[in-house]
Amino acid sequence: MIVAQVSDTHVMTGGRLAYKVVDTASHLQRCIAHILALKQRPDAVVMTGDLTDGGKPEEYALLRELIAPLTMPVYLMPGNHDDRDALRAAFPGHAYLGQFPPFIQYAIEEHALRIVAIDTVIPRAAGGELCEQRLAWLASALAAQPQRPTLLLMHHPPFVTWIGHMDDIGLADAQPLARIVAQHPQVERVLCGHLHRSIQVRFAGTIACTAPSTAHQVSLDLARDAAPTFAMEPPGYLLHAWSATTGVVTHTAVVGEFAGPYSFGPH
Ligand SMILES: [Fe+2]
Ligand SMILES: [Fe+2]
Repeated sequence: MIVAQVSDTHVMTGGRLAYKVVDTASHLQRCIAHILALKQRPDAVVMTGDLTDGGKPEEYALLRELIAPLTMPVYLMPGNHDDRDALRAAFPGHAYLGQFPPFIQYAIEEHALRIVAIDTVIPRAAGGELCEQRLAWLASALAAQPQRPTLLLMHHPPFVTWIGHMDDIGLADAQPLARIVAQHPQVERVLCGHLHRSIQVRFAGTIACTAPSTAHQVSLDLARDAAPTFAMEPPGYLLHAWSATTGVVTHTAVVGEFAGPYSFGPH
């Protein structure tokens, strides 16, 4: 099974540019084309938040259009730029979005890898949190299927990234989550967005990571007082390949025009 993780698409309508620079809709279009052109087509796509830039109904309508070419199931979740109600309203066919209202938390059972998503959003705030209600749901969701390898999805990463301005708008308290995850070794990965960079860390006995954005990347500056800037580094997404024998193997896909492929054969 292969799962593509697409993150921080920040879709805007009418050709508007995020931060007056980034044509996020065109970036997503190129990412979708890249996924469809992969030699091994993913079995599912997960989108780990900041689906739209402004949480507006028309942005979700455009998102729906942009992802329509995908032939495999797509699982959506909100980030701090999203609006839960507008997201649900735009995707009435995505019944899983209503598993645990008012939050968007869900468990998807129909794949070899179990997908469990939790909602870190605080409406109208940049940072994230997991309240007792959301944590209790997660604990019981994980306890229900302890034998099934599981991808745990959340927008705000539960770890310090060293990029100071992003840590300032990170997850409020990761400890209660860490205690739950540590009790569930079936959690193969904790897959996050929000950072617009690829970052990995050991977390509660598993691996937590963040995905690059399909559009703009947060500048690589590991300072507490790093300037809050972004750069148009090559955008990308993650591919998580799983089999019972290999476990989850994560690759980073880069979207862009690059020379090659060239043969390694005799020259
Ligand atoms: Fe984002
Ligand atoms: Fe975010």
